[in-house]
Amino acid sequence: MTTASEKLADVTGVDEGAVARGQSIKSIYVYEAPVRLWHWINALSIIVLCVTGYFIGRPLPTMPGEASDHFLMGYIRFVHFSAGYILAIGLLGRIYWAIAGNHHARELFSVPIFQRAYWQEVVGMLRWYAFISTRPGRYVGHNPLARFAMFFVFLFTCVFMIFTGFALYGEGAQAGSWQERLFGWVIPLFGQSQDVHSWHRMGMWMMIVFVILHVYAAIREDIMGRQSVVSTMISGYRTFKD
Ligand code: HEM
Ligand code: HEM
Repeated sequence: MTTASEKLADVTGVDEGAVARGQSIKSIYVYEAPVRLWHWINALSIIVLCVTGYFIGRPLPTMPGEASDHFLMGYIRFVHFSAGYILAIGLLGRIYWAIAGNHHARELFSVPIFQRAYWQEVVGMLRWYAFISTRPGRYVGHNPLARFAMFFVFLFTCVFMIFTGFALYGEGAQAGSWQERLFGWVIPLFGQSQDVHSWHRMGMWMMIVFVILHVYAAIREDIMGRQSVVSTMISGYRTFKD
């Protein structure tokens, strides 16, 4: 005698038993579209800024032929400044979304440094990354260590690069330009123009260190952690493996 579910399986091709035994995947909507869009635009502009910035600091060997036939450094600088504007306007938009968006959108701008439990979780994540503990925590938003790195390394460096970058830009745009009026004070603060160039360049290496660790951690967590990571920054949904 065939059961009702077997009859259903015959008609629809769905094995009801397998559906009942299957694990349900829980997913939570974490990163809203503006956060995701900003993340990828920001990542792209930082890559462009690092490559073009590197060549501004270490220009290619002299081009052959008439100088007036070439505008290579001009193009490199133009791309650098355009990406710089995108980075700065993007950060302003991201700050707006921290106010307008959900509470995960605010995580980038605050760290609960006065909570004891937070530091315990940071130590827990450090032990997990160092292969000392075998089971990581489960987090809906950023994990506590990621939050620390994003605030103290990414956000700090990003603001630093915008202030020093626009101060240097103000020199080219000349006295009286809005860049010079808003950011000109940064140059005497560091000494003189060349000091700001050197600090701006040091900032690039700080950002590169962040990106290397960040991409490593994102991919490692995706494979070894207890929740989805990379796809969460694409779809917005966090799914849990257990
Ligand atoms: C992550 C962000 C950024 C990185 C990694 C970066 C990287 C660099 C590097 C490595 C240099 C060469 C420094 C030197 O050795 O003289 C440079 C120069 C410069 N950057 Fe950036 N930068 C960033 C953001 C910005 C922003 C937001 C602006 C603002 C528009 C900007 C404007 C400039 C200017 C005006 C120069 C000097 C150009 C010249 O002297 O020809 N940068 N940048
Ligand atoms: C220049 C390169 C990059 C920079 C500067 C960067 C920066 C950031 C920042 C600031 C956040 C926090 C987002 C927020 O709260 O608003 C973040 C999150 C994230 N990024 Fe990146 N990112 C870069 C590249 C990448 C790449 C290539 C991947 C993928 C492999 C990636 C995967 C992620 C993921 C999965 C999150 C969310 C982490 C979590 O859920 O806790 N990022 N990134």
